[in-house]
Amino acid sequence: MKVERETMTEIIYLNGRLLERSQATLSPFDHGFLYGYGVFETMRSYGGHIFRLDRHLARLRRSLASLGLPDDIIAAPDPAAGGQALETACLKVIEANGIKDARIRLTVTAGEGDMTPNPGTCLEPTVLVTARNLVPFPEDRYAEGYTATLSSIRRNSRSPLSRLKSTCYLENVLARSEAHALGCDEAVLLNEADYVAEGSTANIFLVRDGQLITPSVESGILPGITREAVIEIARAHNINTAERQVELTQLVESDEAFVTNSILQLMPLVRFQGRPIGSGKPGRVTETLLAAYSKLVSEEML
Ligand SMILES: Cc1ncc(COP(=O)(O)O)c(C=O)c1O
Repeated sequence: MKVERETMTEIIYLNGRLLERSQATLSPFDHGFLYGYGVFETMRSYGGHIFRLDRHLARLRRSLASLGLPDDIIAAPDPAAGGQALETACLKVIEANGIKDARIRLTVTAGEGDMTPNPGTCLEPTVLVTARNLVPFPEDRYAEGYTATLSSIRRNSRSPLSRLKSTCYLENVLARSEAHALGCDEAVLLNEADYVAEGSTANIFLVRDGQLITPSVESGILPGITREAVIEIARAHNINTAERQVELTQLVESDEAFVTNSILQLMPLVRFQGRPIGSGKPGRVTETLLAAYSKLVSEEML
């Protein structure tokens, strides 16, 4: 999946203003930078419309509230966005960059504070929106599928961070690098109790005997916006769906598996630790759900 680095002027949104990238400055005392005190959303737009922007903003609002950060910034009127909310700011960034199919990142941190980990010293949150052109993977890549390895990193299901898309993303970065170093596309992270949690940047699904199974939120996962859409689609297709604890052997011995995130949509997972999952090819249920997801995107983006 290629995100093109714009060589032309790049417009970003920072703290209420649309700016040229070269004019954007962030404080060296921002607690997002110093302590990873912040949250973000990664979204995908199709033809200038952001898929399920409302759900991304709702998740961001919940995350901000759980970290004790002001969550009213989401809906607060914003002069740079023409007096409208942050929702409009996201759309304006895509428009200002003249792109339609984009990867959009919305980051909110605690903002500038003291040089000590005391968030009480942070006065104003930092709000940043960036967007870049997204060239999706070709169909061949989906036909080929992803390979995965077991990560040495664990999710702590008891940590509130496991359910947030926080700017403390280092475990995800390391898990992903670990997988790539072994020639795999994704890493499977277990939780502290040895149950499957999620991928480094994606949720995991498996299919066994016609049932669609995904680790429950209590397993220590980010409740993905794509995961939610897939569960909705599966139920609408009368596919029996369960959110529960998943053992690694159940994933390895499943009939099919796939991973989900906003950028990838659904990517078949065809091999784990060098062994095929099911037939080693994208399965029928995965293909049905991927086609239905694309249909849902077209319907909602009209
Ligand atoms: C750790 C993790 N889990 C799951 C997901 C999927 O979330 P979403 O479907 O909202 O993109 C992501 C997305 O990047 C992620 O980083």
